[in-house]
Amino acid sequence: MSELQQIPSPFLFGKTVRDSTFINRTKDIEHLWLNMRSGINTVLISPRRWGKSSLVTQTAFVKRRSKQVKWCFFDMFAVRSEADFYAQFSRALLKATSPKWEDWVSGAKTFFKRILPKITVGVDPAQEFSVSFDLKEVEEHKDEILDLPEQIAQKQQIQLIICVDEFQNIHYFPEAKSFEKLLRSCWQHHQHVSYCLYGSKRTLMAEIFNKQNRAFYRFGDVMMLDKIATEHWIPFIVEKFEQTGKAIRPALAEKIAALMKNHPYYIQQLSHYVWESTAKTVTPAILKATIMRLLEINYAMYQREVEALSNTQVNLLKAIADGATQLMSLKTLQEYQIGTPRNVSKNIKILERDDFIEKVNKKATLLDPAFELWFCKYYMHKSLDAYFT
Ligand SMILES: Nc1ncnc2c1ncn2[C@@H]1O[C@H](COP(=O)(O)OP(=O)(O)O)[C@@H](O)[C@H]1O
Ligand SMILES: [Mg+2]
Repeated sequence: MSELQQIPSPFLFGKTVRDSTFINRTKDIEHLWLNMRSGINTVLISPRRWGKSSLVTQTAFVKRRSKQVKWCFFDMFAVRSEADFYAQFSRALLKATSPKWEDWVSGAKTFFKRILPKITVGVDPAQEFSVSFDLKEVEEHKDEILDLPEQIAQKQQIQLIICVDEFQNIHYFPEAKSFEKLLRSCWQHHQHVSYCLYGSKRTLMAEIFNKQNRAFYRFGDVMMLDKIATEHWIPFIVEKFEQTGKAIRPALAEKIAALMKNHPYYIQQLSHYVWESTAKTVTPAILKATIMRLLEINYAMYQREVEALSNTQVNLLKAIADGATQLMSLKTLQEYQIGTPRNVSKNIKILERDDFIEKVNKKATLLDPAFELWFCKYYMHKSLDAYFT
């Protein structure tokens, strides 16, 4: 390997970013923090990879000074049933509220009065610590687990902030509706706890929190997270190149942001590939070659995704990629062969649910900028040259 390749890339994607790899979102951080310390619950929604997890982590990082506030992070990505929830939620809470594992065990004994949790501690308790329950016992005293946050917060005289990632997974629990009701009825009485619930499945999140007949209706302040503006990306990209002994002109950094439509994950990813392909200074030719390589790398995956769509759905994607605004107009219906207005509205829902598109101010746009370039090139036979002049 050459010396150049041994410098680690300054760009990070696919991981939660914070501190020096995290940019902007100052207003979002203040908004979120104001909610959290005022005891207002927050519901945070955006498509995946726009930066929800990073925002919450960064808020904790920036505001962690106070000893009176403790943070508990609970990721529900692998939680698929109520039983999973009880076990993993208790574990996360005990770990987050005491520094030593001995206290996790004694805490479990103090806080549970009617249920006897089974605690497993491995050689390295930080890695191997689990809580499980006798399901029959839990059945009768579920509230004891769900009220655990308030119990701990009162006992320790702290304010507890509980951040739950991929919250929409409760939708997949076998008894989802009754669990939702129970959860809400317990959590809404908590005086010393604020909840921040976030998730990427917009349709599910909206159903859980915005439908009047659902238990979590109006549970908290709903924040829709935006992408990050170009003015923040340009200095970030330029500096990261500089810090690692390479250079990129602001105009080319701007091009990266524009090509990736300000999408945080894809900007970091493209910047990384460009950085990797550059010995010293980025040129337009390097940028173009890198984009083409990115589309090649993803070709098979994108193709599989499109093959799963019906003809009218593919045609609808074409209309959207072309920037058609009046999707239901007779002209658009005929020009793109996208069926009846009913077909269109049904397909829009499906494409939105499956993360192909996103509605911004009621206008549908493609969600994944790299996919959009690929789709334009290979399905619509458009030249991408205009992007590089
Ligand atoms: N504020 C930010 N500054 C810089 N990059 C960000 C920021 N937020 C997100 N990203 C980029 O997007 C990627 C996905 O962010 P993440 O927080 O995991 O999104 P989500 O939780 O919405 O899926 C990160 O790995 C990073 O590359
Ligand atoms: Mg996330």
